[in-house]
Amino acid sequence: MVNSSNLNKYSTSRLSNGQTVPIAGFGTYLIPAEKVTKLVYDALAAGYRHIDTAIAYKNQREVAQGVSKFLKDHLNVQRSDIWFTTKIAEKNQGYENTRKAVQQISDETKEFIDYVDLILVHSPKTSTKERLGTYEALQEYVLNPDNETLNVRSIGVSNYGVAHLEELFHWENLKVKPVINQLELHPWLPRVELRNYMEEHNILTEAYSPLTRGRKSDDPELLELSQKYNLSPAEILLKWSYLQGFIVLVKTENPKRIKENLDILPDYRSDSGDESGKLELNSEILRVLNKPDSKIVLTWGGVDPTLYKDE
Ligand SMILES: NC(=O)c1ccc[n+]([C@@H]2O[C@H](COP(=O)([O-])OP(=O)(O)OC[C@H]3O[C@@H](n4cnc5c(N)ncnc54)[C@H](OP(=O)(O)O)[C@@H]3O)[C@@H](O)[C@H]2O)c1
Repeated sequence: MVNSSNLNKYSTSRLSNGQTVPIAGFGTYLIPAEKVTKLVYDALAAGYRHIDTAIAYKNQREVAQGVSKFLKDHLNVQRSDIWFTTKIAEKNQGYENTRKAVQQISDETKEFIDYVDLILVHSPKTSTKERLGTYEALQEYVLNPDNETLNVRSIGVSNYGVAHLEELFHWENLKVKPVINQLELHPWLPRVELRNYMEEHNILTEAYSPLTRGRKSDDPELLELSQKYNLSPAEILLKWSYLQGFIVLVKTENPKRIKENLDILPDYRSDSGDESGKLELNSEILRVLNKPDSKIVLTWGGVDPTLYKDE
């Protein structure tokens, strides 16, 4: 646990395949397609350079459109400055289905963003055959970037537990390592053991629902800290998440909050010597939020997908 860090709005993390991913991500789950193009544009205008969508969100075309519009209006920003993630849904898993799903991603996004930075296996809640079939198909795209369908730069997983990662690492056809595991993470679900395992295997941790989707915003301990230190619950939770070293995905449909949530991170570049607004939380806040044994799952119907066992 660190009290302060030199992270800023422009910070990136290096993946095991050498690529770099901006740590501040904008999530788009449940944002209706008709609203999302403008919100993605607003997020990029605020300074986010990392956008997260999924086939299951039914908005990836409009998300990609937002990126494209922004790039057209901001010639100083390149496509390569922006990280675009999408995900293969459970119903799209298995080798053949995944090939169809990647065709769908291509049909919906290629005209706007040319390539995708990352495709995640959205969930392990299928079967060994489907998980590995999906992975096999995704590997083929990554290993053949000039394929006719879609240039896919990297593969990751989401909601995978140690058993699902072990299955992948013991698979004889593994050629492209997963670079990221995207997980529900917040003080009530810190997933200490899983994160240690991922660190050993050089898989970066990406946090979703860092604000608990609002489900802990009236938690008495959090409210007390909020009042005592004059920090909003969202500010405390986002700072906590960045200080853990996560890549953080936060969602809002409120343009004012888009900016506020990014302003948690300082504007200065770490080499400038300017330390005003340094990312930090005091030791009392960190102590109160340090709950290494807590296992409260607030998404996925309260049932932890990382513990899923095949039927
Ligand atoms: N891989 C997966 O299985 C998975 C699962 C869940 C999420 N995700 C990804 O992670 C992203 C973020 O997670 P999430 O959307 O579940 O939850 P979240 O970001 O923790 O919470 C979003 C909720 O917080 C509210 N909010 C945002 N900023 C706020 C602020 N400054 N103050 C008070 N309330 C605020 C939003 O309301 P308003 O919109 O009204 O501001 C919304 O209700 C998703 O959008 C998605 O891209 C992935």
